[in-house]
Formats: sequence, C-alpha cells, structure tokens
Amino acid sequence: MSKLKINYLGLSLESPLIVSSNGLSNSVEKIKLMEKSGAGAVVLKSLFEEQILLETGYLLKHNDYPEAEDYIRNYTRSNTLDNYLKHIKEAKQAVKIPIIASINCVSADDWIEFAESIQEAGADALELNIHIIPTSKEYSSKDVEQTYIDIVTAVKSKLSIPIAVKISSQFTNLIYMVERLKAAGADAVVLFNRFFEPDIDIEKMDFMNSNIFSSADDYNQALRWIGMLDGKTSKIEFSASTGVHDAEAAIRLILAGATTVQLASVLYNGGIEQIKGFNTAILTWMEKMNYETVDSFKGKMSYKNVKSPAIYERAQFMKYFSSLE
Ligand SMILES: Cc1cc2nc3c(=O)[nH]c(=O)nc-3n(C[C@H](O)[C@H](O)[C@H](O)COP(=O)(O)O)c2cc1C
Repeated sequence: MSKLKINYLGLSLESPLIVSSNGLSNSVEKIKLMEKSGAGAVVLKSLFEEQILLETGYLLKHNDYPEAEDYIRNYTRSNTLDNYLKHIKEAKQAVKIPIIASINCVSADDWIEFAESIQEAGADALELNIHIIPTSKEYSSKDVEQTYIDIVTAVKSKLSIPIAVKISSQFTNLIYMVERLKAAGADAVVLFNRFFEPDIDIEKMDFMNSNIFSSADDYNQALRWIGMLDGKTSKIEFSASTGVHDAEAAIRLILAGATTVQLASVLYNGGIEQIKGFNTAILTWMEKMNYETVDSFKGKMSYKNVKSPAIYERAQFMKYFSSLE
C-alpha cells in the first residue's frame, strides 16, 4: 500500500483516507480497527470550548447564565478534559497512525491555555472546528471573520504541533478567508464541516431531528472549493470532508487538490472496515491510470492545472434553463 503514502500536516500517512471527527473514535478498540482497516490518521471527536472553560473555572467566574452552566455540565459529563487527555494518550499507545485532536471553538478565550495540554498528551496535530453562528445584527461579517483569525493566531502562538482549521462554506469570499487563515498560521483547511440543522414536524408542530448523515452526492461543494482554492491561495493543504461515500469521490477530491479525504457518515452506515476496500479501489484506479503515487495525481484537475478553470467559477444552470421543460 506504500503507493498511497502522503504527507499531511507534516505527518507521514499510509493513506490519504482519514477518519473525520466523530463519536466512533471515542473507543480505542475502534481506533485500532481504523488503523487495521487502513485509515491514514484519525481525528478525535471534538472537545468543546464551553466544556474547557467550565472545567477550568473560567465560565463559573464569567457566566451570566447559570442554566447554561447546568446544560454544559450535563452535556459534557461523560467527556471531561482529563478523559480527553487520557484518551489521546491511550490512542497514541494503541496505534501508530497519527492522532489528531479536535476542539470546537467560537472565541479566542482562556480555553486556549488548555490546548497546550492536548499537545503535551501527545496529539500529533490539532484540528480547530470553528463555526460561529452570528445571532446579532450588531456583529458584522468582518467581526465574525476576525474571530476566526484571532483563534488561529492565539492557538498558533501556544502550540508547536500543526493546526488544521475545519470550516463551513458559509463565507462571502472563501478565497480571502483561507488566505487569512493561512497567514494566521493554519497549516491546513478542512472543507467542509456538516452541522446539525433544525427541522419541523408539521403534524406534531414541534422540532425534530434532521438527518445527521450525509449522502453520496454531497461532496461536490468541497470539490468546487478545493479545486478553486488550490489555484488561488498561497500554498496550504486541503482536507475534504462531507459526502465521501466511495473511493471514486475520494479520487475526485484528490484530483481537485485535496491532500486527504475525511470519512464519517459512510463509516457509520457501512462499517469502519470499508476503508480497506476504498484503499484498494484507489490503488486499482492508480494502476489503470499509471500513477505511482498519490502526489502525482493530486491537484491534476484543480483550477491551476486545467485548460478551462472557469468551470469552477460557474454556478448557474444556464444550459439547463434553456433546455429543461
Ligand atoms: C455522529 C457525528 C458526530 C460528529 N462529531 C463531530 C465533532 O465532534 N467535531 C467535528 O468537527 N465534526 C463532527 N462531525 C462531522 C464530521 O466530522 C464530518 O465533517 C461530517 O459528518 C461530514 O462528513 P461525512 O459526509 O463523511 O459524514 C460529526 C459527524 C457525525 C455524523
């Protein structure tokens, strides 16, 4: 399988397929299975900023909403900071593949001190899962974007391990944003996170859960943006997330410029062992196309390497509007 080797975040990975942050990695036994099945690395489930602030006492001093404290305490009871650090250490002992820790954050507050403990526990890299839902008309787009930059700058000043930033697609100018994240110290950008979205039951007149899993045609947005960013930003690595349900989607995303491709929903639906088959299918395709390494086809179809890059900039179904009835 050495033809699948790739460097991501300064780490040597045996495969570009990595397990994205999700609950499956809460178990060391499952992390072992991920390694055995051929995952290049594992991103652990996110620790939450609120959880860190609560446990380090910050929230108790600064929280104006006692009910929020109860909520966070209950929500995070099973996943204390000590448990998280212990889990990193146990995972590192159990497998050789890189273990990437993850923190979900919305501010550059005191939680950043804690990031150092994650590094000390042995995490090979840190993925910052940043998603700010603006809820105030006083908070401008510029303010929101600056918070992302402040977080990355602050974390980078504390840590020596590489940092990936996992974001959503909801930016007015993603190219400008990624360029700023890179300048602030991000080593990679993960495109895109997928979120809980509220839904409404029209019979019960109540809220209900939307589907937490992606489907197999959800990867195109990441493909467009990775393809475009690869030609338009300074050198930074991209990791694709959302909608990768087979080897073909992974190959397409690497062709667009992704260094790694992350998997979550497909592993919940069909099992962790599928990674092995995906790796084999990528190798079979490489053989057919005469590629010796992943690097030799990475970005081959990105904005900077194709004859008609304008395809990445096209968004309207112009042709179809005139022919579809
Ligand atoms: C059950 C579940 C839990 C998740 N937890 C996290 C998390 O803690 N942190 C995070 O950054 N992403 C989390 N995600 C998002 C995934 O890492 C991934 O970005 C998203 O599911 C899209 O990829 P997919 O189409 O392969 O599922 C979670 C996804 C699922 C399904």
